[in-house]
Amino acid sequence: MIGVFDSGFGGLVVLREFLQLLPRYDYLYLGDNARIPYGTRSDRVVYRFTEQAVDFLFAQGCQLIILACHTASAKALRTIQQRYLPARYPERRVLGVLIPTVEEALSLSRNRRIGVIATEGTVTSRSFEMELHKLDPQVEVYQQACPLLVPLIEEGEQEWEGTRLILRRYLAPLQAAGVDTLILGCTHYSILKEQIQEVMGPQINLVCSGQVSAVKLVDYLKRHPEIEARLSRGGGRRYLTTDLTPRFARLAGLFMGQPVAAEVVEM
Ligand code: DGL
Repeated sequence: MIGVFDSGFGGLVVLREFLQLLPRYDYLYLGDNARIPYGTRSDRVVYRFTEQAVDFLFAQGCQLIILACHTASAKALRTIQQRYLPARYPERRVLGVLIPTVEEALSLSRNRRIGVIATEGTVTSRSFEMELHKLDPQVEVYQQACPLLVPLIEEGEQEWEGTRLILRRYLAPLQAAGVDTLILGCTHYSILKEQIQEVMGPQINLVCSGQVSAVKLVDYLKRHPEIEARLSRGGGRRYLTTDLTPRFARLAGLFMGQPVAAEVVEM
């Protein structure tokens, strides 16, 4: 199976893209809704929660796990790849959403000024900035934490004029910096893509990690036939959550675009 992990519902947006491009595999989605948000937590706590989720998904038989959560990708992925996997599961793989997104942004930007909007945790980790600079040391990176966006989206306020006002305020410094490409560096933000495009203007490239990560996963599986061969192909989908409230049904529907029947699990 392919495991897809997120701190909550947002990763369903990423899963949705995988299901479109790679529908024949079996997927196991895990959302840590009991402990969302991750975006405001320390490195240590995000790492601990992410490691627990990875342990859990591997124990369920996943061979490959995608960390759809940007905060987990930013704060935990490197240690999982460099220390946890070699010691515990050398044959299995954990991938994130940052690197595909960064590669896409660099391929689109002409003026080498790239903006990143993300949770506070992702911004303070500076992971996007570091990955962008690894591939192009000359690129100028402008980051903006947008802590109000996740709650606004989760409250279904994407059409509210207050949301536009808040977006204008968050995006103004990036516009002033003259970025030509903007990374939507959080699972939730693609829900506000239209509104963000409206504020930034039609000439600005927006990069959504879900779409890009799915395209890169197709390529990754071609380049790694030994991993691809271990993935089951029954077209199955299971949705697990660490907490189930009426909110789950509403938000999972919004992110997935269809109703989601989830099972509650303890990690
Ligand atoms: N999934 C998180 C991310 O992509 C957003 C929600 C949270 O803060 O946990 O960064």
